[in-house]
Amino acid sequence: MPPPVSASVLKSLKKASIEALKSPSAPSQPQDSPRDDLDLLPQHFQQFQDRAYWDAFFRERKERAFEWYGTYNDLRPFVAKTVEGWRAGRKRERVLVIGCGNSDFSADLYQEGGFQRIVNVDFSASVIEEMRCKTRESCPEMEWEVMDVTAGLAEGLGRGSFDVVLDKGTLDAIFSTPESERHADMMMDEVEDVLSPNGRYMVVTLGQDFILGKLLERFGGSRSGDWRLSLHAVEDPEAASPFLTIVGVASRCQAGEGDGKRISVHFDDAGRRLADDKARTFRAPDLADVLSLVNMAQERVALKHELRDIVSGRFKGEIHIWLAPRSTDATSEVVSAAPDGPRYTLSIVDLVPQNPAPLPCAVFIIPQGREHDWLFSTADGLRQVGLSTDYRRLICVRMNRGHVFRDMDEVKTELGPVVIDFVPVDRDPAYMVPYLAVGDSIGARSAVVASGELPGCGRYCVEEEEDKDEDGKDRGAVVRRLIFYRNQHVIQSEVRLVPSLQKGKNKGVEGGKKKKKGSSTKKDRAGRRTCPSAQNYTVDWSYLSFDYHRTMLGGLIALSYPHLRRAAKAQERRRCLLIGLGGGGLALFVRHYVPCLEVTVVELEEGLVDVAKEWFGFSCGGEQGLRVDAGNGHTRVLLNENESFTEMERWDAILVDVDNADASLGISCPAPDFLTGHFLESCRARLVDEGGILIMNVAARSSDLLEGSMGAIRKTFASGEVHEARPTEQDVNRVLFALKTQRPTSASKLSLGVQTEKWLEECFPESKNVDPLGLCDLNIS
Ligand SMILES: C[S@@+](CC[C@H](N)C(=O)[O-])C[C@H]1O[C@@H](n2cnc3c(N)ncnc32)[C@H](O)[C@@H]1O
Repeated sequence: MPPPVSASVLKSLKKASIEALKSPSAPSQPQDSPRDDLDLLPQHFQQFQDRAYWDAFFRERKERAFEWYGTYNDLRPFVAKTVEGWRAGRKRERVLVIGCGNSDFSADLYQEGGFQRIVNVDFSASVIEEMRCKTRESCPEMEWEVMDVTAGLAEGLGRGSFDVVLDKGTLDAIFSTPESERHADMMMDEVEDVLSPNGRYMVVTLGQDFILGKLLERFGGSRSGDWRLSLHAVEDPEAASPFLTIVGVASRCQAGEGDGKRISVHFDDAGRRLADDKARTFRAPDLADVLSLVNMAQERVALKHELRDIVSGRFKGEIHIWLAPRSTDATSEVVSAAPDGPRYTLSIVDLVPQNPAPLPCAVFIIPQGREHDWLFSTADGLRQVGLSTDYRRLICVRMNRGHVFRDMDEVKTELGPVVIDFVPVDRDPAYMVPYLAVGDSIGARSAVVASGELPGCGRYCVEEEEDKDEDGKDRGAVVRRLIFYRNQHVIQSEVRLVPSLQKGKNKGVEGGKKKKKGSSTKKDRAGRRTCPSAQNYTVDWSYLSFDYHRTMLGGLIALSYPHLRRAAKAQERRRCLLIGLGGGGLALFVRHYVPCLEVTVVELEEGLVDVAKEWFGFSCGGEQGLRVDAGNGHTRVLLNENESFTEMERWDAILVDVDNADASLGISCPAPDFLTGHFLESCRARLVDEGGILIMNVAARSSDLLEGSMGAIRKTFASGEVHEARPTEQDVNRVLFALKTQRPTSASKLSLGVQTEKWLEECFPESKNVDPLGLCDLNIS
């Protein structure tokens, strides 16, 4: 059953139609108010199929033409392609206009185009009568008939009697909901019957998926032996409409004619016209590729419309730019799924600069290798970058992994035609968009030592670079990172590798798996950063790379005291559930330095365990108090409503450290599932009453999203305590702590920072050598 058409689609269609009503192409009627126009549009898409609706529509419009999807002038180039003899002046072709409405299109084709053998049909008798009267003198030979285009058209007008059928919005009206497919088929049967052996059908449509699918199936599919279909886009340089208007021209061809490529698409991913010799051609089996190409162009047009004006304070992140062609196979020249994802990702920041006369827009190139910095990975950071310039809009560009970028010139050449879509329309047309970069460079990417694909996380890579201090001085170690391509500005895991010889000096270091022989660091052809071969290096377990990990742990220890101290003293173990393995660093760190906690890690992505073992020195086994449950496990159990709370496993601490696959949501950690009332309640129920704590890392692009997460946790843990900590001043992460029950007043009054240090010394002597925890300066509110 196809999904119902949503109210928002209808609303935007209404909006677009209102714009059409007010556009210069429609005769201006000062007495009209937009409200009147809005009233003309139906409440449901289904009404577009209803004769009574159309009768009322035309009655209300009186004699004012309503041009759906453009005027004769807008569409002239496509008509010229469709109607033969346009240039040669042989204007004898017979043209049938189906669902003519009260458009001036036919009269213009008659008067300006010089085609006189035009028959117009519509099932609204009132509009036919009105048009007949209106054109009696100006277009004396034009004919007007009341007919239903879904039945009796060929019989009434003669089989094979027309060279061209023109349809502007009528298929969209008849097939306005997927349920009316039968009517669409009936209409297209009539069109086929009424057309001559070399006839052409020109249809102007907004190309909803099911409508386009139908056109492709009828005129481009394997069963449509004698048709060819070309698809064109009506360009809209001012981005006045959020919809891409598509013109389809289906032409009958002789059996066996051509090379089997039946569909040609004459526009690119952004809906821009392509010269005929650049059109992309497809065979019948590639219909899905055609649909995906059209969808991409439709999305881009909607985006361009949305961004045509500057709205100060707006942040629009993650606009993916693939650039053509992504893959070529024997049967299609089309871009289909790219192995390496989009080449560029754009974020758009609209600002109010200090300068009283700011410039409209600039492109800012985020340096490769620094896309994870707070400044370049968050809305607030990019806003800060923007405010240091004099532009009202900054188009921030990230160069994605899996692609090679030669230099700034190459980047500018590629981006020139792309960014033009995102430059505000009110600029001076001669304005040249400047490119800004850090030190005029595109930066350098770390060396990639491994890459692969996991079923759930998709493409990933392991990168390495030298560990340098703030002044760029080499610290003699290597930093290794795990990156998921789906969320490129987030480092999933990071470990520090130190030369194996130093192993003894690093108390507590063990289990750092050496790299496999022969898998030394590769240099990249694009001159990416190199680092010493990590062959003789081992993981430094005393190093916690992320400030938010330090905060999670410091907070755990601080807030769970005296619960943990009692366990440590009695040499008992408490139970910690960690959701999200990554490279396994956090899990191992807890095991090493908080020995009274045994850790169970749950990870949805089974294959990640191997990546963690091979590249991040992870190891586990029940006897070490560390166990991994990958591929299914507790995350699902926690989300399972049916489990009885009495049978549940209980945990002293639940740590949530997961990313969100859908970067477009504005929250890169965690996925929305982990912030639902159900999940949070489920966690609460599974925590032990005394000292039970849920700790979650949240990385959100905006403070609203963050507040929302905090609110959800507060609501569930209303009878306990909820705290929030920001690991560092410029940190996109916030760590949320939720205690199931309130601590004794004496414990909660103490300064947490001091407590942490004191308790660590007291309970966990191992931690003395661990700088990160000792220095953990918790600023919990
Ligand atoms: C979206 S309007 C397009 C009108 C006109 N072609 C234009 O471009 O302004 C759809 C038109 O199709 C007509 N229509 C809808 N269903 C029809 C049917 N089954 N038979 C004939 N006309 C139909 C409506 O009366 C209306 O005039």
